[in-house]
This record gives sequence, structure tokens and C-alpha cells, in this order.
Amino acid sequence: MNTIDALILAAGKGTRMPSPRPKVLQTLLGETMLALVTATLAAMPRVRHAITLVGNEADMVSAEAVRVAERLGKKALCVRQERQLGTGHALMTAMPELQGDGSVLVVNGDAPLLTPDVLNRFIDAAEGADVAFLSLVMDDAASYGRVIRENGAVRAIVEAKDFDPSLYGPLEDAREVNTGIYLFSLPAARRLLPSLSCDNRGGEYYITDLVSLGLAAGMDVRGVRAEGAGCDANALLGVNTPAELAAAEEILSNRRREALLASGVILHSPSSVRVSPMASVEKGVELFGPCEIYGDSVIRSGARVLSHCVLRDADIEGGVEIREFCHIEKAVVRRGAIVGPYARLRPQALVDEEAHVGNFVELKKTHLGKGSKANHLTYLGDAEVGPGVNFGAGTITCNYDGKNKFRTVIGEGCFIGSNTALVAPVSVGDGAMVGAGSVITEDVPAGKLALGRGRQVVKERKR
Ligand code: UD1
Ligand code: MG
Repeated sequence: MNTIDALILAAGKGTRMPSPRPKVLQTLLGETMLALVTATLAAMPRVRHAITLVGNEADMVSAEAVRVAERLGKKALCVRQERQLGTGHALMTAMPELQGDGSVLVVNGDAPLLTPDVLNRFIDAAEGADVAFLSLVMDDAASYGRVIRENGAVRAIVEAKDFDPSLYGPLEDAREVNTGIYLFSLPAARRLLPSLSCDNRGGEYYITDLVSLGLAAGMDVRGVRAEGAGCDANALLGVNTPAELAAAEEILSNRRREALLASGVILHSPSSVRVSPMASVEKGVELFGPCEIYGDSVIRSGARVLSHCVLRDADIEGGVEIREFCHIEKAVVRRGAIVGPYARLRPQALVDEEAHVGNFVELKKTHLGKGSKANHLTYLGDAEVGPGVNFGAGTITCNYDGKNKFRTVIGEGCFIGSNTALVAPVSVGDGAMVGAGSVITEDVPAGKLALGRGRQVVKERKR
């Protein structure tokens, strides 16, 4: 099988999505539409390069293309369409990057539900054609371009806004739509593109006009029907409006849940468990809804995540219990640890094996050593904590002087009394103890007791 290049059309404005963010950066289960489409193409060995066409908010969209490529271990390739003159113009703009006599797979960036299976089936059916597109029969075809056939043979794709009922009959009866997925042989595209015009209601160069132009030139033009090719219809939905985005997110979420259950993940209240398609949840993990697991999170076999938790790029090892109402972002929780309820682990928190992080405890850039416990009302930021340390309620590492951040280092087996402020930079040596209510501004040597608080006085009561 020959490899092909792919082109993601992501330069449009998305005028039907009332948001300051470009449409392809709208998210489903925490992932942008662009990330989802890019990941689908990256999972197809026959796709050599995926080029992203950017234009509207080009810097933002390119930045996302780069971020996604890095996550997938690929290199981002972006081409700028300075003025968005339509999907046909988008292909024209990308042509200089598409060399040789092979084919290009073109996909709309607003088709976040695409799967490698659907695209592979389409490419197989389209192999050898000059121009091919994937169509679908829909009950409510809304603004999709309609496929016009005569005696079963494709004649054209006509956009809904250009549809003339006197020529084609009632719009509602035209139920076969263009899904926005195409395969063009590059020589055919080079020959046909100069003939595109913008003489239509949209005043744009339509990629869809390559169908009628190809037919007029006597080329092999194929409208591949999704039903005939065995493609999942849900995978082909385009997203233009908030309602379509919501519907697509629901479909993606259901698909993800079904895949998790099939792979042996145990879900409680499954309809409220939301897991990004990029996150990895191993067989034997138990998730309690409602909960949200986003980004490149990894949850390993035997971990339990109880309800109302939000995890983003979290790495949770086996035997861990994340109790209710925790927020975990870019943090690692090692085997056998217990976190929560009501804990917050911020980026670069590392909760080591068998450690406990309890209610209203926040960790940032902190290593909490093996078996150490911070169970109540505590903030540990920029801290290195050895194994077997106990923090009393209300301990705070004062890591910020208004300008710079400083580290706190606490050795093995220390006991930090309740309501202690550790003013960094400061260290507490192995086996040391800090009395409750202390403000520690100087290093505490190993094995000593430090008290940094006003001495209690007891006086006669005035009556
Ligand atoms: C398009 C198709 C329509 C099809 C539908 C499927 C055309 C003319 N129409 O309509 O037949 O049924 O998709 O979802 O193609 N884009 C660019 N540059 C541009 C314009 C658009 O990159 O100058 C990108 C957009 O970012 C988007 C994609 O192309 O990702 C499709 O554009 P959109 O405006 O959503 O087209 P539709 O009206 O949905
Ligand atoms: Mg669209």
C-alpha cells in the first residue's frame, strides 16, 4: 500500500460558533477538535504526513498543532491560508507542499469523531480514483452539502445555500450529504483547481466543485457511500454550532465508555464518567461517576478514583485510592497512596508510595516521601519531604517572598507540629521535631526539637 499525505482544513472562522476561540480549538472531553483529528490521522500507518491548514487565529491554531504533534511524537506541519476564501482555496494554498503523483486525503478540521477505521475504509473504496468523497444519508441534513446523483451516478455536490429546488427537488428530500472527507489524486487536483470559481451564494471557492469539474473533464469521480463502505455514521458528523458540539461530545463520551467497559475498566454511575480519548485507563481500574479524566492521564490497574474528581495529565499507580472531590493536575501518585477527600495536587506534585494526603491539603512541586502523611489543612509548595514524615493540621511551607520561590527540605521521620509555618529556604534534619504553632525561619538540625513560638504566660484573672 502506498503512503499518502493528509490535509486538515482548519483555517476557517467558524462563524456559527459564537466564541472568541477558533472553532477547531473548541473541545470535546478536554481535547480540541484539531487534536482529535490529528490523533486519528497519526494512528493510520498509511498517512505519511498530516499538514494542518491554518488561517483564522493562525498563531493559536498553529500552537495547538505543535502541542498535539509533540504529544504524539510527530513533527507539526502547518501551512497558512492568509485569507479564508473557501475550502477549495484552502486546498489550492496547500498544493505547493504536496509533491509527487500520489494522493492527498483531505479532512475537515471540524469532524472530531473520525476514526482510523472509517478513513481506512474510505481510502480503500477510493483507491485509484481521481476525485473521491465520502457521503452519508442523514435524516436532518441541515447545512451539509447535498450529493446530486442521476441514475445512481454522482453529478455534483451542491451546498445547501446554493440548492435550487427547481433543479433538484425539495431540499429536505436530498438526504445524501457530503461528509467533508476527500481523496484527490495530486495530478487531478493540479489540473482542476485553476478552474474553480467563487461564483456562488457563499462567494467562496468550494472544494466540492472539484466533483463536477472532474466529471466534466472525464475523470474517475467517486461518491463513496458510508453505508456501503461499512463506516460508522456517527464518526462523520461535522461540528458547526454549539448544539452540534454538544451532540458530538456526547457521542464521543459514549464511545469512550463502551471501549473502557469492553477493556475491563469498572465504571460506577457510568453515564457521568468522562474520559478523554487520549487518557489511558488500564483494565481493573475502578472509576466512580461523576468524574472527569483528561489529557494524557494514566491510571494503572488496581487504582480507584472515587466520585467528583477531576484529573488532568495525572499519573496514578496501582493500589492508589483517590477519594472524593480531588483535583489532580500533572502530578504523580505512587503505589498504595491515599489522596483526599478534598485534596489538590498541582503540577509536579509527587506523592510517593503509601503516603497519605488528606482533606484540604494542597501540594505543588513537592515530593512527599514514602509513607509520609499530610492529612489536614496543609500547603506544601516547593518542598522535598523524606519518608515517614507526619505533618500536623495547618502546616504551611512559606515558599514565596513576593518575588522568588524557595525550597523547604524535610528529612526522614520528622514530626511537624500543627499550625507550623516553615519559612523557606529552610531545612529540617532527619528525625527532628517542630513544636505546634512554630514559625521556623532557621534550619533545624537532625534529631532536635525546635520551638519557634511565644511562650505561654499564665496570670491572675482580673475580676
Ligand atoms: C463543508 C462542505 C459541505 C460538507 C460539510 C461537512 C464546502 C464548500 N462545503 O461545509 O459540502 O457537507 O463541510 O461538514 O467545503 N476552512 C478552511 N479555509 C477556508 C474555509 C474553511 O480551512 O477558507 C476549513 C474550516 O476551518 C473547516 C472546514 O474547512 O474545518 C470546513 O469549513 P466549514 O465552513 O465548516 O464548511 P461547511 O459549511 O461545514
Ligand atoms: Mg463545517
